[in-house]
Amino acid sequence: MPPNQWDSSLYDDKHNFVTRHGEDLLQLLAPQPGERILDAGCGTGHLTAAIAASGAVAVGMDNSPEMLAKARECYPQIEFVPGDVTDFSFPQPFDAIFSNAALHWVRAAEDAARCMARALRPGGRLAVEFGGAGNILHIAEAVRAAILHVTGRDQPHQWYFPSIGEYAAVLERSGFQVEAAWLFPRWTPLEGDTGIRDWIRMFRGGMIGPLTSTEFEEVLRLAEDSLRGVLYRDGRWHAGYKRLRVCARKVLH
Ligand SMILES: C[S@@+](CC[C@H](N)C(=O)[O-])C[C@H]1O[C@@H](n2cnc3c(N)ncnc32)[C@H](O)[C@@H]1O
Repeated sequence: MPPNQWDSSLYDDKHNFVTRHGEDLLQLLAPQPGERILDAGCGTGHLTAAIAASGAVAVGMDNSPEMLAKARECYPQIEFVPGDVTDFSFPQPFDAIFSNAALHWVRAAEDAARCMARALRPGGRLAVEFGGAGNILHIAEAVRAAILHVTGRDQPHQWYFPSIGEYAAVLERSGFQVEAAWLFPRWTPLEGDTGIRDWIRMFRGGMIGPLTSTEFEEVLRLAEDSLRGVLYRDGRWHAGYKRLRVCARKVLH
């Protein structure tokens, strides 16, 4: 799969814990009736719908046609627009921007921060959560080693997993004041005996290539073997997530 091609059914079916964890972030966003709120990297739109349920005017934006199609199918009453978080603008400013589990796909973090600041009204707030420094370290290393073994090529992952300090500096340079930030572990159970393979297929598959399907299966097998001792506990696969959660506000001037 190319980097931003998503299997929206596999996402909603076996990886909906990503969306479920975003519900805590909604509490920090605290959407108010009548507010205009952008959900950046909205995916299949479930959290956009939760924002709308509070009475806010929620708009979902994503650059994956597959995810947007599913979001529109599930929530035809909500506005979902195609757009890249590094290069977007809207005619009317937002009161708040929300983003769950999307910004680690965006290496051009400065561009995204600038666009988000521009899209907010002065004093508007930002509530975001994504992978932070140390996120899924074991999986990233195991897959990298497996690819090297199978192909002879070193293919490090391309995610953006910043520390609190790094990301706060990015936001401050774009005109945000950071009000709170957390970097915390989230040990996350995966579904079924193929949990780790499904996870790698879903989230890392698009960054691996070019590989034949036989080579890809071998990468999965090797990664699974080397991760078993670390991530298979009590009869279940897990992912060692580390999340960065940040609340910020666009400065008033
Ligand atoms: C793991 S999903 C999270 C979806 C949703 N926020 C949720 O919590 O379920 C990541 C989403 O980020 C989107 N995404 C990645 N890079 C993006 C970009 N540059 N601009 C807009 N969306 C992006 C992907 O298409 C995908 O839908």
